[in-house]
Amino acid sequence: MSDQREQQNPITTTDAGIPVSSDEYSATVGPDGPTLLQDSYLIEKMAQFNRERVPERVVHAKGTGAFGYFEVTEDVTQWTRAAFLNTVGKRTPLLIRFSTVAGELGSADTVRDPRGFAIKFYTEEGNYDMVGNNTPVFFVRDASKFQDFIHSQKRMPGDDLRSNNAQWDFWSLSPESAHQVTILMSDRGTPRTLRHMNGYSSHTYMWINAKGERFWVKYHFKTEQGIANFTNAEAKAMTAEDPDYHRRDLREAIQKKDYPVWRLEMQIMPFEDAATYRFNPFDLTKVWPHKDYPTISIGRMVLDRNPENFFAQIEQAAFEPSNMVPGIGPSPDKMLLGRLFSYADTHRYRIGTNYKQLPVNAPEVEVHSYSKDGSMRYRHNGNQPVYAPNSYGGPQADPQRYPEPSWFASGEIMRSAYTLHAEDNDFVQAGNLYRHVMTETDREHLVDNIVGHISQGVERVIQERTVNNYWSQVDPDLGARVAKGLGLELRPELPTSVGGV
Ligand code: NDP
Ligand code: HEM
Repeated sequence: MSDQREQQNPITTTDAGIPVSSDEYSATVGPDGPTLLQDSYLIEKMAQFNRERVPERVVHAKGTGAFGYFEVTEDVTQWTRAAFLNTVGKRTPLLIRFSTVAGELGSADTVRDPRGFAIKFYTEEGNYDMVGNNTPVFFVRDASKFQDFIHSQKRMPGDDLRSNNAQWDFWSLSPESAHQVTILMSDRGTPRTLRHMNGYSSHTYMWINAKGERFWVKYHFKTEQGIANFTNAEAKAMTAEDPDYHRRDLREAIQKKDYPVWRLEMQIMPFEDAATYRFNPFDLTKVWPHKDYPTISIGRMVLDRNPENFFAQIEQAAFEPSNMVPGIGPSPDKMLLGRLFSYADTHRYRIGTNYKQLPVNAPEVEVHSYSKDGSMRYRHNGNQPVYAPNSYGGPQADPQRYPEPSWFASGEIMRSAYTLHAEDNDFVQAGNLYRHVMTETDREHLVDNIVGHISQGVERVIQERTVNNYWSQVDPDLGARVAKGLGLELRPELPTSVGGV
């Protein structure tokens, strides 16, 4: 009988592996008596439970993810020496995490928000993280404004409520946000599923080939499921019906073996073009028009495996743009350079010093670093040297084989906006999107979504600013339609340009 039971169910143990005598009862004095402090199993259960959560991500808290692979479909060795991209047909395992930005861990999936699109490639030269979004641009272009931007999106200090007033206040005082806000307020701000949206690096990165030649690149992961969005009304209805709709949809699609696929298309700019391009190519609020730099298809990403344990594999996943492998480097994008610090720092706080040793974050190659100790260290190199240089066979860096990605920089230290390019302008690309890319239905939905959003709790003075200094600058027709929707007079005497790059 007992043998038979052991075959069906293992015996419960404590976390130290010691068999326990009851799954249901505390140790007490007599059947109704007081509980004993010596019941260390009960104490372990309670104490472990009290520590089940790690802090949620300060942004992108609600998300989901899956495993899969990336397959190279074109020869890209003329542009990058990255080993995982060096052979057509080569496959690299990966993890992706999708997320919303502003909501908390339990918030609804289908709210209006950008979506995170974070990929960890487990390559043969270490982990490469591409931590992007489902939009090709961002709200601000300087890391110094990111915290303020996020504060305007999250809950207010006094009442702990989110505030449309704060959002439009910040946006309308930050004209560089216009391009991203136009996309956010369009139906692309409410994707139908995570499978039906694109992902973008948004930032420009550097690729370096085996000869040391450098290129500026942008990544576009194009959904092979096709773009599909919810209207505002559909998204709101789904928020009520199933707040976990996106999470459920992705999991079920993979369960059914309906594996989602994205094509990776690259925009590639010769290194020298950046200096003379008509606007700053490293400005995160702008795209590179396709006619200037057409996309080149180089590979595909397939998601074919659900996580087995959500907490261990998704909640504790730690993506960081600073994880770049040889052949890939950063660009002078000020936001990207800020992000290179921010993510590892937040992981050390959110998960712990040795977060890179967790299976989901660990590379599939051997690690030979000189870091040691710290809370919860699991991996070690025995008694190997822990300092460099050393005479005892410790790891040695190879600057010839792995030169630092670089570009020439000089100048006085200052705090300023980008100033060097002729056609830098905050509104022109948002205007092009409105005028030349959107259909009339897209434009109608955009206007309705903006008006609906600004109508909720936004002060008149801020409404007027968004109409005159913001939407009218993106496009006069858009400004007029938003003004009409809000019942406002256009006020051309207000400053028409809020200036700057
Ligand atoms: P193109 O006409 O060559 O490209 C327009 C692109 O816009 C499309 O390829 C598509 O890219 C994307 N798009 C289509 N419909 C919508 C929509 N309703 N909302 C948002 N994006 C849409 O022109 P340009 O390259 O000169 O770009 C014009 C404008 O298009 C830009 O100012 C930008 O707002 C937007 N855009 C441009 C992208 C780029 O990398 N050049 C990327 C995405 C948008 P996709 O398949 O990537 O969605
Ligand atoms: C998550 C900071 C800009 C995409 C995060 C997190 C921080 C952060 C602290 C939480 C990470 C965690 O706890 O695991 C910043 C800073 C930025 C910035 C300081 C600007 C200076 C951006 C931009 C993008 C982006 C421009 C996209 C192009 C993401 C994504 C996540 C994330 C996708 C979620 C990663 C995951 O799924 O775990 N960011 N961010 N961020 N950020 Fe940013």
